[in-house]
Amino acid sequence: MSLSLNNVNMLKIRDLEIWPPIALAPMVGLSHSGLRCLVQGLGGIGLLYTEMLAAKRLPSDNPKFSPLLTRTSIEKPLIYQLVTGDIEHIGAAVDKLHQLKADGVDLNLGCPAPLQKKQGAGSSLCQNRSNLQNILRELRKKTNLPLSVKIRLGAKIDDEALAASCRFYEDEGVDLITVHGRLIGEKFCRKARWAPIAAAKNAVSIPVFANGGIFSVDDARRCLDESGADGLMVGRGAVEQPWLCGDIGRELFGSPAKVEVVDKREVYFNFIHLIEARFSEEKRLGRLKQFTRYYAGTFKFGHQLASRVQSSETVVEAKERAECFFTTTTKVEQTPGFCN
Ligand SMILES: Cc1cc2nc3c(=O)[nH]c(=O)nc-3n(C[C@H](O)[C@H](O)[C@H](O)COP(=O)(O)O)c2cc1C
Repeated sequence: MSLSLNNVNMLKIRDLEIWPPIALAPMVGLSHSGLRCLVQGLGGIGLLYTEMLAAKRLPSDNPKFSPLLTRTSIEKPLIYQLVTGDIEHIGAAVDKLHQLKADGVDLNLGCPAPLQKKQGAGSSLCQNRSNLQNILRELRKKTNLPLSVKIRLGAKIDDEALAASCRFYEDEGVDLITVHGRLIGEKFCRKARWAPIAAAKNAVSIPVFANGGIFSVDDARRCLDESGADGLMVGRGAVEQPWLCGDIGRELFGSPAKVEVVDKREVYFNFIHLIEARFSEEKRLGRLKQFTRYYAGTFKFGHQLASRVQSSETVVEAKERAECFFTTTTKVEQTPGFCN
């Protein structure tokens, strides 16, 4: 149910209060405990997601060792995203999520990756209505936690089909729908469409979040205007600029940003510190490289940071190279090729 309190868009789904209505998107290899803490620490986040977790494997994953399940107590509320096309895996996966003290459960209905397609999961499940209905009913039967789904616009732009799908989710007990403004199969280089999300918003009384292509406060404002959505989900923009949700929260929802002036070097090294505190040595470098690929986009000559970290063989080496980039960054912004 969507509540309006004192003209502020406070959302409540079941017992979960979401404020401000901005979520960090589920992203494989990126939305781990380190990034979640970094972004949450910079403000503007009302909801966090894990990356997609295979329902089949989840019950045997050990939260002490699995980087996918590593979580600290400040990462709240945290919705765990499941991906599956098989109803048989739901029961044990949900039991595990209860043990992990999940604040909510999300079902991935948008992933078009071949592996998910093969298993009838992600966007393939979305297109198989009877299996989808069975899985949603099983999820709803097994848990009283808030249940959300993350979908794309559909196979083509069709307001009535999108509206009908969203009414179906609501009827099956879903509490929150996030719509990624791209069609199934569309690549990320294609501009996200926010206006068609309005068909979802107007069809249901549960909250709808809009997602896709939000890289600035202005994007966030236009996305809300065009879609009429209750909230936003930010993915790559929050990796490129981990302070972006803080800016959006402050400008559009009046939530206090925890940090108003950001030191980009400090943010980068804070991220490294967070992953060092959470992940084993062999897991750190890959996650640092993946983060850097996006974070480097915030600098004019960021490709220098990206390529140097990318070719590093250890985190120590990556740190030295990053330090070199940051100490020379003012000159680098003007003079490409400064840092060797
Ligand atoms: C590296 C990467 C991994 C992703 N992994 C997931 C995932 O695990 N589950 C999911 O629902 N979407 C996933 N997505 C899609 C994002 O959640 C989001 O819908 C998409 O990036 C568009 O939002 P953005 O433009 O704000 O990044 C992923 C996207 C990226 C770039």
